[in-house]
Amino acid sequence: MSSRVLILDYGSQYTQLIARRVREARVYSEIHPPTRTAEWIREWAPTGIILSGGPNSVYDENVPTAQLATLEIAPVLGVCYGMNLMAYLNGGEVAPANSREYGRAEVYLCPHSGPLFRGFDDNEPFVAWMSHGDQVRSLPPGFVTVAHSDGSPIAAFRHESKPWYGVQFHPEVAHTPRGSEVLENFLFEVCGATPSWTPSMFIDDEIAKIRNTVGNRRVICGLSGGVDSSVAATLVHRAIGNQLTCVFVDTGLLRLHEREQVERTFRAHLGIELITVDASDRFLDALRGVEDPEEKRRIIGHTFIDVFEDATRSAGDAEFLVQGTLYPDVIESASPRGGPSVTIKTHHNVGGLKPGMRFTLIEPLRELFKDEVRNVGRELGLPEAMIGRHPFPGPGLGIRVLGPVTKVSLDVLRQADAIYLEEIREADLYDRIWQAFAVLLPIRSVGVMGDYRTYENVVALRAVTSTDGMTADWYEFPHDVLGRISNRIINEVRGINRVVYDVSSKPPATIEWE
Ligand code: XMP
Repeated sequence: MSSRVLILDYGSQYTQLIARRVREARVYSEIHPPTRTAEWIREWAPTGIILSGGPNSVYDENVPTAQLATLEIAPVLGVCYGMNLMAYLNGGEVAPANSREYGRAEVYLCPHSGPLFRGFDDNEPFVAWMSHGDQVRSLPPGFVTVAHSDGSPIAAFRHESKPWYGVQFHPEVAHTPRGSEVLENFLFEVCGATPSWTPSMFIDDEIAKIRNTVGNRRVICGLSGGVDSSVAATLVHRAIGNQLTCVFVDTGLLRLHEREQVERTFRAHLGIELITVDASDRFLDALRGVEDPEEKRRIIGHTFIDVFEDATRSAGDAEFLVQGTLYPDVIESASPRGGPSVTIKTHHNVGGLKPGMRFTLIEPLRELFKDEVRNVGRELGLPEAMIGRHPFPGPGLGIRVLGPVTKVSLDVLRQADAIYLEEIREADLYDRIWQAFAVLLPIRSVGVMGDYRTYENVVALRAVTSTDGMTADWYEFPHDVLGRISNRIINEVRGINRVVYDVSSKPPATIEWE
């Protein structure tokens, strides 16, 4: 059986990063709550176990813990809270540190630091990132200190005879430059894992699972044209061929030529059965006169579900629905910390379901991170242009035409947006930017064209860099590129006489304007 690592999540902000680093080392990993019993974990058969960091203190009441028996199932690495927990459970002392240690620290290895630090030099301190208020004060019997820092006399430990290791620092964050080496040492030197987690292995496994689940029944999939639903649909098609029908809803809120691109890729290139529903009038009618952003989002979301439901009826007797759910969505919704408490924007995603819909869900990507989805897409032969696309929100241009949405305003925005993206590609900047798009503002300004006065609309250009869309910086375009884009939009798009560039970061602004 292939190697796999179980990560118990004690609530750290960085638990997902541990899973990613392990998978980057080509070992499959999953995050689970700390309430998993030793029996459950034994059954899951991990090659190694990692206990994450967390915000609590192990000595407090009602904090997440682990059964001692869990530590005996496979080699264990405790990170921060996880390290403290290993010490505490075995009779060591954990207490508040004299001074809390946050940020960069120099870590000094002791001689005989063991396999976790193979390749490190005992005489050379390394930089690690710390974030803790507690520390291990005294070790339990059988444990030895293998590293210290100014703030942590016990910055790492190991057991003399058992495969137990603990680090007070966070090896999973980029600010610990050699952190991946520590994790890889744990995987390969300590656990003896094999680096076999690859996209093609994932695809083979998933195809077998999908065939098994679906048998000879029918499956339906809502395509958005984005990476996730495209990869999910292609994977399911690889498994069950023409038992899959895809539905693409043309909301009228799409970018220039988007519908044709999706049709070409899926029908012609991949040979997937695709129903396109032109519902643009329905969306425009529902949005008529609506200005409030949340109201627009609600209307678009509901209309989408209604249109999709009608389309699925015409697709016959499908029992399964494919969704492009990703691992971060799964972890977020299962998180012991719960989701965000304030709604900033109501997100709507293609394929959203009404409660009570009759389908069984197939979510073939629910164990993958975004970059892994892209690699799977490449392996499945999806065009690079589709895999590397910038994110596009479910409500589409409906939230990029500010104020009331009309056919005319959508057409104006589509043209400006297409020029903007064309020039970005031409300057070879597309892949450096997380997301770039144009926004049509509901104001007019005075201009002069030839000898005439103009009084027309303003387009705002937005381009941001980001790693996850949660925070973002505005992108510093070379001025000549901005100049070319502005010139072309004003000259080529009737109805626009002014272009402005958005220089707001998120927070406090958001990426989309509505
Ligand atoms: P904001 O505007 O909240 O956007 O900073 C963060 C990221 O989410 C995208 N976005 C959406 N994606 N449905 C989606 O699938 C939505 O309703 C939605 N609203 C915003 C946005 O484009 C950015 O990438």
